[in-house]
Amino acid sequence: MGADVAVAEQFEGQNEQGATDLTKSRCKDLAIQLAKFPRVALGHLPTPLEPMDRLSERLGGPRLWVKRDDCTGLSSGGNKTRKLEFLMADAQAQGADTIITQGATQSNHARQTAAAAAKLGMACHILLEDRTGSNDQSYIMSGNVLLDRLHGATVSKRSGGADMNAEMGALADQLRQDGKTPYIIPGGGSNPIGALGYVNCARELVEQANGMGLRIDALVHATGSSGTQAGLVAGFAAIQSDIHLLGVGVRAPQEKQERMVYDLAQQTLSHLGVDVEVARSDVRANCDYIGGGYGIPTEGMVAAVKLLAETEGLLFDPVYSGKGLDGLIDLIGKGHFEGMQNIVFLHTGGSAALFGYPETFDLPGYDADEK
Ligand SMILES: Cc1ncc(COP(=O)(O)O)c(C=O)c1O
Repeated sequence: MGADVAVAEQFEGQNEQGATDLTKSRCKDLAIQLAKFPRVALGHLPTPLEPMDRLSERLGGPRLWVKRDDCTGLSSGGNKTRKLEFLMADAQAQGADTIITQGATQSNHARQTAAAAAKLGMACHILLEDRTGSNDQSYIMSGNVLLDRLHGATVSKRSGGADMNAEMGALADQLRQDGKTPYIIPGGGSNPIGALGYVNCARELVEQANGMGLRIDALVHATGSSGTQAGLVAGFAAIQSDIHLLGVGVRAPQEKQERMVYDLAQQTLSHLGVDVEVARSDVRANCDYIGGGYGIPTEGMVAAVKLLAETEGLLFDPVYSGKGLDGLIDLIGKGHFEGMQNIVFLHTGGSAALFGYPETFDLPGYDADEK
C-alpha cells in the first residue's frame, strides 16, 4: 500500500469516527429532550433489529433487516405501544380515569389502548368504525375485537364514514355528566404527543445500528394515520440522519398521506422544542399497494404475508404490515433501492388481525378428514 493511500485511509477512518461521535451526541441530546415529557413504561424496549437472510436470498437484492416493533410486549405488541407510553402518561397527568379512542373494526391501536388502560387501572371506551362493510363473523368478533373485550374495554360500533371525532366528543360529554374524567386519544394515537414515541424509535434505531456497526440505507414501513412516519421523520431530522425513509400507504392517496405526515412531523418537532426544519423531500409515501381500499385484502399482501411466514417465521398483518411488505418487495424488484445495501423493514405489528381474516389465506397442507 502506498503512503498516500495509507494516510487517506487513516483520515477516512477518522472522518467516519467523527461522524459516528457526532451522531452519538445528537442521539444523546434528543434523549435528553424526550426525557422532559411524561412517559409511562409500557413496552419492551429497545426492540430487536434482526437480519432476514432467507428473505434477502430469496429476493436476490439488498440485505434486509426487520426492526421488531411487533415485540413491544403489550397485548401481542405493535407500534401503538410507543405512542401510548407518552399519551397515557399525559392522560394520567391530566387526572383522567377513562380513555376514549376510535379505529376501524380490526384496529390494532384500539386493542393496545384497551390493554394500556387495563394495565394502568383506567376504564376504556372504544368506538369501531365499519370501514370495510364486511359481515364476516371472524372480522366482526375475532382478532382485535376479541382482545379489546378481553381487556375489559366497552366497545361500540359506528357506521362507515361517521364523524369519529364528533362521536368521541359526544361520548366524552356524556361521561363527564356521569362524573368521569375522560381523555380522548385520536385514531392511531397520531398527534404530536403520540408521535414522540417514534421520535424515540428513530433515536433507538440509529443508536442500535451504530452499536452493531451497521449502516442503514433505508427504512420502510406501513403508514396510515401518520404518527409513526411523522415521528420518524422528526426524529431523523433532529439527529440529521440521512436514512431514506419510505412509508407504504394503506388508506389515503399519496398527496394527502404525505401532507398529513409532513404537517404532523413539523408539529411534533415544535412540541419537542427542537428547532429543525423538515425537508418536504424527506417525506415519502408510496400509495400504490392499497388495492380496493383500507382493510381490503390484495393478492400482493397475501403473497407477502405467506412469504414472510414461510421464510422467516414472522407474522405480518393483512391491513398494514402485509401491504407495507408487498410494497417493499415489489419496489426492490423495480430497482427503487438501487445501490443500497441494508434496508430495514419496521414491523409495526398487527398479527392479531390475521384471525379476523381466516378465509383470505387459502392454505394447503391440512388434511382435515379423520383417518
Ligand atoms: C400494524 C400497524 N402498522 C402500521 C400502522 C400505521 O401507523 P400510523 O397509524 O402511525 O401511520 C398501524 C396503525 O394502526 C398498525 O396497526
